[in-house]
Amino acid sequence: MQLVIINGPNLNLLGKREPQVYGNQTFEEMLAEIRKAFPSIDILYFQSNVEGEIINKIHEVGFTADGIIINAGAYTHTSIAIADAVKSIKTPVVEVHISNVFARESYRHESFLTPVCKGCISGFGIKSYYLAIQSFF
Ligand code: DQA
Repeated sequence: MQLVIINGPNLNLLGKREPQVYGNQTFEEMLAEIRKAFPSIDILYFQSNVEGEIINKIHEVGFTADGIIINAGAYTHTSIAIADAVKSIKTPVVEVHISNVFARESYRHESFLTPVCKGCISGFGIKSYYLAIQSFF
């Protein structure tokens, strides 16, 4: 099984960025743990701060990968274009968030992605990614 994790804007700063919200680990550290926990799964990783690059990656892997796990960061709450990309592909997509977006500012309560994804996992820190991977079994 091949799964692709796509992280959006500012998630390259995990470990440095608002550690009280997002923790102290870098995503690379998290990814090493995730890969160790799921040795039989081919887990590809892509991060970009650029909306169009995220869309291009969704198009690139969205007809061949078995699943996409997307944390679109703040684009979650703004991007019709990313939602349209998710709608356009065959691969099922699971939305994840490290923080519980519903316990935060009201502008984070809206997601353009949730209606076009298989499901949404929010609020479990790095475990949100584990749970998203498990949802594909
Ligand atoms: C986030 C939540 C978003 O609201 C925020 O803009 C992020 C990270 C999360 O993982 O909790 O960048 O997607």
